[in-house]
Amino acid sequence: MAAAMAAAANKVSLLSLVLLVLLCWGSPSASQELRRPPSKIGVIGAGIGGTSAAYFLRQKFGRDVQIDVFEKGDVGGRLATLNVEGKHYEAGGAIIHPLNLHMKHFAKVLGLSVSPIQDGLMGFYNGDELVFEESGWYIWNFIKLLWHYGLNALRMYLWEEEILDKFMRIYRYQSHNYAFSTSEALLHALGGSDFLRRLNQTMDEALQEAGFSQKFINEFVTPVLRYNYGQSTSINGLVGVIALASIDPGLWSIEGGNKLACAGLLEASKAQLIPSTVLSLEEKNRQEGRSGGVVKLYKVEYNSAAGLTSDLYDIVVIATPLQRKISNLEFRNFKLPSGEFSRPYQPIVSTLVHGQINASLFGYQDPSQLVLSDIFTTEGPKAFFYSLSLVSPVQNKMDQSLVSPVWRTFSAESLTKEQLNLLFSSYDTVEEKKWLAYPRYSPPEKPSPVVLHDHVYYVNSIEWVASAMEMSAISAKNIALLAYHRWYNKAHMIDQEDLHERLKTEL
Ligand SMILES: Cc1cc2nc3c(=O)[nH]c(=O)nc-3n(C[C@H](O)[C@H](O)[C@H](O)COP(=O)(O)OP(=O)(O)OC[C@H]3O[C@@H](n4cnc5c(N)ncnc54)[C@H](O)[C@@H]3O)c2cc1C
Ligand SMILES: *[C@@H]1O[C@H](CO)[C@@H](O)[C@H](O)[C@H]1NC(C)=O
Ligand SMILES: *[C@@H]1O[C@H](CO)[C@@H](O)[C@H](O)[C@H]1NC(C)=O
Repeated sequence: MAAAMAAAANKVSLLSLVLLVLLCWGSPSASQELRRPPSKIGVIGAGIGGTSAAYFLRQKFGRDVQIDVFEKGDVGGRLATLNVEGKHYEAGGAIIHPLNLHMKHFAKVLGLSVSPIQDGLMGFYNGDELVFEESGWYIWNFIKLLWHYGLNALRMYLWEEEILDKFMRIYRYQSHNYAFSTSEALLHALGGSDFLRRLNQTMDEALQEAGFSQKFINEFVTPVLRYNYGQSTSINGLVGVIALASIDPGLWSIEGGNKLACAGLLEASKAQLIPSTVLSLEEKNRQEGRSGGVVKLYKVEYNSAAGLTSDLYDIVVIATPLQRKISNLEFRNFKLPSGEFSRPYQPIVSTLVHGQINASLFGYQDPSQLVLSDIFTTEGPKAFFYSLSLVSPVQNKMDQSLVSPVWRTFSAESLTKEQLNLLFSSYDTVEEKKWLAYPRYSPPEKPSPVVLHDHVYYVNSIEWVASAMEMSAISAKNIALLAYHRWYNKAHMIDQEDLHERLKTEL
């Protein structure tokens, strides 16, 4: 009896199995599941964008895919250090915000030590005098801010927080694997048409609209924007808010240099680094087996120590600005989607100076009275530098044993001897690094496309919203998800509306 029952049960389960197989056969989603995984993915650029893309691509596509990362310079890209008398200092991307969750995650999983960036005192200089100066006494600062700017500073904090709150939604969307096919769609999912409108507005317009005073904008906001982006309040209203976050408390950086995140991600992703300059990208069709399916592949041509070489890839991720002066990639056999790719980038010179600051320039006869560690400048003909900051070496940051300090300036051009002599009462070592640093923002901003071809993606589209380490990491994760969903035809995971509402009910 029991045996008969079991046999019947088996029959039922066999039948249901057959049914299930038949059903699956007929359903398109199941046949797509059968699509072969990609065998090779190429990533161009080993900055934080390319290396985090390699990391997230490995997570999505699994251990069998080969990932190659091309780099023509040093791993780290715009994260780099300069050597001043045997100690290394950040010359590019330096500060990381406490709410930059991808950067935080990288430091944690890669086992990198982090250290806080010392909360120094900030002053704003107009070329003649300091128009605002923080003091070490919190209450006194508060009174000073009130006195100078009324409630503007407090309101600014709340205004910024509201925008950053919405921005933080990206982490939830990404943890649920949702992806976006354009930078605009990503922004819309975070903050609706309000966010898109900010991309069309200058920071000045956005601030005026929110009722901030012109004095506050010129004296307080502008210097912070100049420090961060070497530009004024003519930048778009989103990158402007990201810049303001750079004076929040709790900033940090990676011990040994932020570029260690890139090296770590490369290793964790088990990607192969190919030191070479990529010259071109070309679409190729290959006949697959006897069944005769045509497979689309991308030929990456590159120049390495071994000479001109090329390789075929299923998916290609471009993680460098497609600015001709930065990366002059040629696209053969396929047309880029419309959109301007080679828009100007802002030149910034980062100069590290070991010396004593000229206190009298800032109105102090006694140098020991000048205790500011960040001096940002307002706009004007006399402001030949954007910022002057006391910096710590990337190693043993908390070690304050240095007798004479190292300062870092950001400026549009190399500092002349005269300018150095004006800024410093004495100095010895001067090291500089020239960058094409970040986009020259000019709203209405139209970010470049993210999808350049069926399986070619562009990480640095996001820079036209805002350029920062975390932005590159967010874009890299988005592209890993997008490449995965597009490879396996999971359209329901791309460009979904109302994610914020939908995910509220999910845990
Ligand atoms: C002076 C300065 C200060 C900054 N301060 C901060 C800060 O405090 N906080 C912050 O978050 N961000 C800061 N940023 C911005 C931040 O550094 C960048 O947004 C971020 O590092 C960009 O990373 P990425 O990987 O997208 O691009 P990149 O770092 O530029 O990486 C692109 C890589 O691609 C390589 N490459 C280009 N073309 C080719 C090719 N044809 N073949 C092979 N390789 C190629 C390049 O050599 C480069 O290594 C700063 C930037 C600068 C310049
Ligand atoms: C932004 O400006 C563009 C034109 O430059 C326009 O097409 C678009 O609708 C604007 N978006 C918003 C949200 O205002
Ligand atoms: C310092 O600044 C003053 C202007 O306040 C200037 O006259 C002087 O030449 C500068 N340099 C030195 C070394 O003091």
